[in-house]
Amino acid sequence: MKLAVIGCGYVGLVSGSCLAEAGHEVIATDNDPARIAALQAGKIPIYEPHLDIVLDSVVREGRLRFTPDAAEAVRESDVIFICVGTPPTESGDADLSAIDHVARMIAKESRTSKLVIEKSTVPAQTGEHLKRALEIYATTPGVKFRVASNPEFLREGTAVEDFFHPDRIVIGVEEKESEQQLRELYRPILEGQFRCPVHQPNCPPVATPDFVVTTIASAELIKHASNSFLGLKISYANVLADLCERLGGNVEEVTRAVGLDPRIGGKFLKAGLGFGGFCLPKDIQAFIKLAEGAGVDFGLLKEAELVNKQRVGRLLEKVKKALWVMKGKQIGVLGIAFKPNTDDIRLAPAIEVIRRLLAEGAEVRATDPEAMERARAVFPNLRYSKDPYEVARGADALLVLTEWEQFRRLDWKRIRKEMARPLVIDGRNMLRPAEMRELGFEYMSFGRPDPSAVTAGQ
Ligand code: UDX
Repeated sequence: MKLAVIGCGYVGLVSGSCLAEAGHEVIATDNDPARIAALQAGKIPIYEPHLDIVLDSVVREGRLRFTPDAAEAVRESDVIFICVGTPPTESGDADLSAIDHVARMIAKESRTSKLVIEKSTVPAQTGEHLKRALEIYATTPGVKFRVASNPEFLREGTAVEDFFHPDRIVIGVEEKESEQQLRELYRPILEGQFRCPVHQPNCPPVATPDFVVTTIASAELIKHASNSFLGLKISYANVLADLCERLGGNVEEVTRAVGLDPRIGGKFLKAGLGFGGFCLPKDIQAFIKLAEGAGVDFGLLKEAELVNKQRVGRLLEKVKKALWVMKGKQIGVLGIAFKPNTDDIRLAPAIEVIRRLLAEGAEVRATDPEAMERARAVFPNLRYSKDPYEVARGADALLVLTEWEQFRRLDWKRIRKEMARPLVIDGRNMLRPAEMRELGFEYMSFGRPDPSAVTAGQ
């Protein structure tokens, strides 16, 4: 099939590359000419494992190309994926101006009928507006537009794998023809033709995904409902962690046993600094707003959002209790990205932690395997180092803010020797309290009471 992908951000790049790998002819465009020029020169603007391999091969084989000319992309395709950003406005609603702009552009430039698919996360009823805009602004007589919703559930860090091996593919359609077209488009993935995105040996066999066909409004709701529920689960685990600290339980034991009930499930119950990134916080906020606009008070989500916002404060309480005075203290930070295997720092809890440490007069030195360049744009004067041991050198405290596997595998004995005071505050419950204690650390984490740490402020 001939596909156009409008918007070469995270979703557009991953979807466009993977759809090309699935055998389609893809032309991708973006309103940022510099981004397109970089992509044409083979530079990928985001860090996403395996994306380079897939992108290289589809570009080399001529199945994916980039153009700054959106009209060209529209005219040369039968199916158009809208993958533009829908950032939150001041009030927390999703800003749909980019979708509106693209809809008018598609209507104006199309010379043949198209299937137009919303892939960006949008509030319910956007499909209706999209359809109306396409009809109103169409310029070529006889051209018809069908609209569909096809939300993405890609996690940063595993997006390529998620694309080829999704749990479900959700499509919201109005016509049988659109359903058939989308079924055909995703056929290679539905048939499980991709063992592994990078075709490594020893990949476990994958289950074929469910193909869920719904109305457009339901598909739009499914995306917000999924991400909001994930946030709800994390905040639930975080309140449990606070409770464990007061009552002497261990949140890992509790969530593990609770999660063994298949009705609950064990994933997304990891307590710590809370959720960040550009999806969960933004989608919860937009869902609350959407409900509000529809006259429904989603108090449950408001509470989950509030709990999440308080996590940074909870970590800093521990730091302050242990360090007493923050001014002039040297604090090492391990991890800036909102989660491992990404360079994304948008709404990363670590950013807020660093901001507040600096405001209190602490001297911060930070490291992250991928996110330091992006962090430099936010904190140009912070001291950065590629070397975690250097970050630990002379530090009064070391904070673990992203659970990169590289950090788990550090020589912690050596870290201890480097530090001025062997105090580790683990915002991601990444390390084992008993092992850290044995190595001579004062160690604190979330919801895992540790007899030796009690005096240090847990
Ligand atoms: C999310 C959804 O998972 C994905 O399906 C959707 O399409 C896009 O949004 P992503 O933003 O990549 O993906 O991050 P995710 O893996 O969901 O993690 C979000 C945040 O929650 C991270 O900051 C992570 O550290 C935190 N988290 C996750 C926890 O604090 N505890 C957990 O148990 C799980």
